[in-house]
Amino acid sequence: MSFLDIDNLEIDLGEFVVRVDELHLSRGDYLVIIGPTGSGKSIFLETIMGFFEPISGTISLDGADLTTLPPEERDVSIVYQDHCLFPHMTVEENIAYGLRKQTEMKENIHRQVHEIAAMMGIDHVLNRYPGTLSGGELQRASIARAIIVNPRLLLMDEPFSALDQRTKISLRKLIADIRDNFETTVIHVTHDLDDIWWLSNKVAVMNHGKIIQMGKKEEVINKPSPYFVADFLGANILEGTVKGQVNGLTSVNVNSNIFRTVDCGEGSVILSIRPENIMIAADPFMASAQNIFKGTVEDIIETSRIVYVNLRIGDIVLTSAVTPGAVTELGIRTGEEFQVLIKATNVRIIGEKNKNG
Ligand SMILES: Nc1ncnc2c1ncn2[C@@H]1O[C@H](COP(=O)(O)OP(=O)(O)O)[C@@H](O)[C@H]1O
Ligand SMILES: [Mg+2]
Repeated sequence: MSFLDIDNLEIDLGEFVVRVDELHLSRGDYLVIIGPTGSGKSIFLETIMGFFEPISGTISLDGADLTTLPPEERDVSIVYQDHCLFPHMTVEENIAYGLRKQTEMKENIHRQVHEIAAMMGIDHVLNRYPGTLSGGELQRASIARAIIVNPRLLLMDEPFSALDQRTKISLRKLIADIRDNFETTVIHVTHDLDDIWWLSNKVAVMNHGKIIQMGKKEEVINKPSPYFVADFLGANILEGTVKGQVNGLTSVNVNSNIFRTVDCGEGSVILSIRPENIMIAADPFMASAQNIFKGTVEDIIETSRIVYVNLRIGDIVLTSAVTPGAVTELGIRTGEEFQVLIKATNVRIIGEKNKNG
C-alpha cells in the first residue's frame, strides 16, 4: 500500500472514458501529468477531488478509502488555471474559507491566514477584493486557500497557464518551497516542461483517457519511449528503415537521407532527435558528429529564450533549437544553407513503426 493508491479506476462520461489501471504515489511525491488537450487530465483530477463519480475502481489516500466520500471530506485541495476566489469576499476571507469549515478558533484563523499570506507574499492585499488583484496575486491567493487546510493531497490543474513568464517563474519557486517545507504530495497538470524540470520527481503522460507512460522524471525525459511522448515533448520524429550496422552504428534511411545512431533496431523504426541536439554550423568542423547534412533554413521561430530554426534536408524538415546569440553569430537567415550536425548518440530509436502509436 502506498500513500495514494488508485486502482482500476474508470470514469464513463458517455462520449469520453477515463481509465487509470493503477497509479501509486508515496508521501511527498510530486507528480506532473502531461498530455494533449482533451486527453482527460482535468477529469482525472476532478475524480480524485470527488467531482466525478467513477463507475468502478478505488482511490485510497493515507489509508482511507476516498472513492465514495464527498469532496469536502477528502482532505484534498485543488488549484485551477483561473482562480476561483469568491468575488464578494476579501482575500483574507477567501483564504480563511477552508478553515472556517473546520470550525477553528477565530484568533487561530486570523494568525494562520496572516502567516500563509506572508509566505505567499500577499499580506498587503488581504483586505482587498479579488477584482482588484493582478493575475499573479490572485493565483497566490488561490494557492494559499488550497494549502492553508494542510491537505493530504494538493491537485493543480495548469495553475500557471494564464500567467506571464516572470510571474510564472516566481510562482514556480514558491511551489517548490511549499513542496520542500511541507512535504506536500502533489499532482500537477501542465503543458510546460519547466514544471517537470523544476518541480516533479515523477511524470505521467496521458492520452485518450489513459496513462500511457509513468515513471521517475529522469526516465521519462531521457527515454520518452512511445512515439507520442517524444512528439509531445517537442522532439523531431522521423520514420525510416534500418539499412545495417557498422562499427556499432546503425544506419537508418529516412527519405534517402542516412541517419546514424548508436541505438539498435530492425526494419521500420521511429527516430527521435531533440531540437537542442541539432547543431548548425557554417563548416562541417565537428569531426565527432556522425551525422552531417546540408540544410536550408525554411523558417525561424523566436521565443523568449530559444530560437527554433526549421532546416530542410532533402524531403525532411528538422527543427533545431539555438540561442539568439548563435543566430546573430552564424547569420542564420531564411533561405541560407548551413551544415547540420547531429551526434549518433543523439539520434534515438524510440520504437517500431505502427507500434505503441
Ligand atoms: N462533464 C463532462 N461530461 C462529458 N464529457 C466531458 C465533461 N468534461 C469534459 N468532457 C470531455 O472529456 C474529454 C477530456 O476532457 P478534459 O479532462 O477536460 O481534458 P484535458 O484536461 O486533458 O484537456 C474532452 O473530450 C471533453 O470534451
Ligand atoms: Mg484540462
